[in-house]
Amino acid sequence: MILTDTHTHLYLEHFDNDRHEVVQNAIDKGIHYMLIPNIDSKSVDGMLSLCDEFPENCFPMMGLHPTDVKTNCQKELKIVEQWLEKRKFVAIGEIGIDLYWDKTFVKEQNISFRHQIALAKKHKLPIIIHSRESMKEIFDILDDVHTSDLKGVLHCFSGTEKDAHKAIEMGYYLGIGGVVTFKNSNLKNILREIDLKHILLETDAPFLTPTPFRGKRNESAYIYYIAEKIAEIKGISIDEVAEITTQNAKNLFKF
Ligand code: NI
Repeated sequence: MILTDTHTHLYLEHFDNDRHEVVQNAIDKGIHYMLIPNIDSKSVDGMLSLCDEFPENCFPMMGLHPTDVKTNCQKELKIVEQWLEKRKFVAIGEIGIDLYWDKTFVKEQNISFRHQIALAKKHKLPIIIHSRESMKEIFDILDDVHTSDLKGVLHCFSGTEKDAHKAIEMGYYLGIGGVVTFKNSNLKNILREIDLKHILLETDAPFLTPTPFRGKRNESAYIYYIAEKIAEIKGISIDEVAEITTQNAKNLFKF
């Protein structure tokens, strides 16, 4: 069984004491691929050294995270551009709009999101979309810039069933993580209506830890519990979930 964690921040300080063990443990448990979204210019070095240490397993993305879009975003976007010229990345991410934490830079968030979508088109890369309290704003922009070759994933999908169908119709995948294991989550009902070929698995480690470890640090090995839950919802085997979702990830990210 080969599972893929399509969204994991393993370079963060939460893993400073045991990063190598955490990654090796995930690989040993069958999570063979880990895709690593960037946050800002300060996270690049840690991300790349991890990917260099595990070149068969860990693949980097490049982008400026919406909660780190501040007054200096033009400078940050320049750095993203420079990195994209310098080496290979599997996606532009994570990018998007976050109106939950702070609305001060909403204008800059919009500009940065559009700018990085343009970079994705230029470099022919998929986009990792972070959306929090901003589904409408995200869809307004995606509608506006839509082209058939622009692909990506709605990371940590938290929209309605209607949003899910709209995203899929436009060519996007839904990123499903620990939230699906939470008792009160509506995601189960949405997943019943969606073909697995539109789903990617992700942990968003160290955040959003699935049951039975909710409240503790999340790690890529816990993809197993997300896959297990989806298998239960869909009434299929976990091997089938692993096979389909890893193939989806390969189709989108071409690693
Ligand atoms: Ni993330």
